[in-house]
Amino acid sequence: MTFHDANGSRTMRIGILGTGAMAAALGGAWVRAGHEVMVGGRNAASTASTATRIGAAAHGGLTEAAQYGQAVLLAVSAEAAPQLAKELAPDLAGRAVLDCTVPMVPSGDGPVSSTAGGTDSTAKRIAAAAPQARVVKAFGICHESIWTLPQPAFEGAPLAVPFCADAPSAAALTRELITSMGCTPLPCGGLNRAALLEATTVFAVGVWWSGGEARHAFPAPALAPGAVDDQ
Ligand SMILES: NC(=O)c1ccc[n+]([C@@H]2O[C@H](COP(=O)([O-])OP(=O)(O)OC[C@H]3O[C@@H](n4cnc5c(N)ncnc54)[C@H](OP(=O)(O)O)[C@@H]3O)[C@@H](O)[C@H]2O)c1
Repeated sequence: MTFHDANGSRTMRIGILGTGAMAAALGGAWVRAGHEVMVGGRNAASTASTATRIGAAAHGGLTEAAQYGQAVLLAVSAEAAPQLAKELAPDLAGRAVLDCTVPMVPSGDGPVSSTAGGTDSTAKRIAAAAPQARVVKAFGICHESIWTLPQPAFEGAPLAVPFCADAPSAAALTRELITSMGCTPLPCGGLNRAALLEATTVFAVGVWWSGGEARHAFPAPALAPGAVDDQ
């Protein structure tokens, strides 16, 4: 069921698979934005604890959370996500499945992508595992702490949230969800570009871990005095 508040914003029902840091941070942000959240996990005690901590409307098992609403957040490790999506494929059919996973493993040279070597992005693997799901790569760029801020904004600009989606309905829902959080949707194309988002995240994490600030490496060309437009 869909509700609208006085401002016309739609109240969404969002199921969350996982009970850890991202489940709590994003779930909490969605509760604050007025959405109805159900936390679903494989451990009843941690599921109830996370749900209580963020003020979720409901909690239960993974299947119940997958069936709960029009959107489902996959907040488990990138290694576990495709198999979990396969197990829940009938329940995820027709829903927007928000994939925030980061396929990242440490190396002596900083973190590297665990999908390196020509294999698909985790988002593509999830989509292959649950073909009727409308998979969206989103919400994985930022550290979980960012989602605990009441209104994420930096240097005067609301946080931009990049996402990749193939299904127009899932892209529209994601855009609406991001806007409801006070952030700016940043559509980045279809799922074939999700590998770029995943790799960019791993790159940024490596910069942060080495003490740098990744966003300082990406100024828009238009910010340069006398910027040329011949690129
Ligand atoms: N933490 C961040 O700042 C951050 C930022 C961006 C993206 N991400 C991505 O978000 C995802 C979740 O990260 P997190 O930090 O929230 O991890 P986390 O705190 O370790 O929580 C992981 C959750 O996944 C559950 N889980 C793992 N394997 C599962 C399976 N096979 N079936 C069902 N549940 C399973 C765990 O359940 P149990 O407790 O029962 O083991 C736990 O609830 C990861 O893919 C990560 O790369 C994290």
